[in-house]
Amino acid sequence: MVSLVLGLPADHEARLRSDANRYGHEVLASSGSAQELEVVVRALRPGAAVVSASPQYLTPRVLAACDDLGVRVVALVADEMGRRHAASLGLYETTDATADWPTIELMLGGSRGPAAVTTPAVTRGQVIAVWGPSGAPGRTTLAIGIASELAALGHRVALADVDTHGASVAPTLGLLDEAPGFAAACRLASSDTLTPEELDRVSDVYQGASSFRVLTGIGAPRRWPELSAERVTGVIQRCREWVDYTVIDMASSLENDEEISSDLFAPRRNGATVAALREADRVVAVGSADPVGMSRFLRAHVELLEVSGAGRVDVVMNRVRASAIGLGPAAQVRQTLARFGGIDDPVLVPHDQNAVDGAVLSGRTLLDVSPRSGARRAIADLVALRLAPVAEPARGRRRR
Ligand SMILES: Nc1ncnc2c1ncn2[C@@H]1O[C@H](COP(=O)(O)OP(=O)(O)O)[C@@H](O)[C@H]1O
Ligand SMILES: [Mg+2]
Repeated sequence: MVSLVLGLPADHEARLRSDANRYGHEVLASSGSAQELEVVVRALRPGAAVVSASPQYLTPRVLAACDDLGVRVVALVADEMGRRHAASLGLYETTDATADWPTIELMLGGSRGPAAVTTPAVTRGQVIAVWGPSGAPGRTTLAIGIASELAALGHRVALADVDTHGASVAPTLGLLDEAPGFAAACRLASSDTLTPEELDRVSDVYQGASSFRVLTGIGAPRRWPELSAERVTGVIQRCREWVDYTVIDMASSLENDEEISSDLFAPRRNGATVAALREADRVVAVGSADPVGMSRFLRAHVELLEVSGAGRVDVVMNRVRASAIGLGPAAQVRQTLARFGGIDDPVLVPHDQNAVDGAVLSGRTLLDVSPRSGARRAIADLVALRLAPVAEPARGRRRR
């Protein structure tokens, strides 16, 4: 028996209430609005909520209440708008509004079966976090480049956008971000139902010379509380069972919110970045090779090492060009980093406006659009010489 609350239009409500009773479930309450539903869920703590997938009943606050209390949500979709609405909230447990009770019954038992999530992991994929200080040094460009080069080497790769300030992987790759895959994965992780199959379902695929999976980020930055540190950690751990490499694009700020807010239980906007850095096996730290970019980088690099630990960080200086730092820019960059940061062997990626702009304009990777460009070659070398050989996963041991 499951204790239920319903949030449905009157005609549906009457039909499903009597069906639910006939199947031995207890309907604790019905609500006519999202506000009421939220209150009822918090007060009665039902086992599940059967809710119409329209903004009148299903809102982020209702979902948050259900997530907090571990209440399973089954959304009934009447039309395309309803499906989109549910997907935009990261809710994929939907069924048709005309579905009969046995169908809903299946979803109540649902994919929550613990067997699915406790299956021992056969592989342990590697996680590469791409970080950089504020000022758009090229984190997203590098993250996409690294994912595509790893995929070109034959690995199974996922690119995850964990940027809680300005997610941009989806628009850069020409993907829709109305239903952010990473937020959906976070919801499933919080209810312990995130499996490789679910990750397949909520992710997009970038199709090119090399193809990889994409967990798109939250286009609306106000949704950052959905990416709590705990959820982000949960998703990354599941990604290790899903693909050989997970590449993570993220925001810049490492500022510790605990020092800003004394409320220990308040959500932390930078929690996602810090969690991803702690969880990563390797960090690619990207700076912009100009005077301001390098000084920002050097200051933030110290904080980065505190968060992520030394020894796992590869430094990349992006957009290297003489016009910004003078003749012999490569030598200048190396010298500055060595002298002021004790950084010995940075990877240098040239400023390559035509190639990078061309890739963004067409929503493709550098590998697809300008495989011979300087920027692409530098990223390919970074992957082949530093990232892939060291972090070689056991390939071919598992094939779903
Ligand atoms: N090597 C490069 N050469 C030229 N332009 C670049 C290069 N790398 C990044 N850019 C451009 O710089 C801007 C910021 O890059 P992006 O990767 O979005 O930075 P971030 O993710 O750090 O904010 C974008 O317009 C991008 O096209
Ligand atoms: Mg970015």
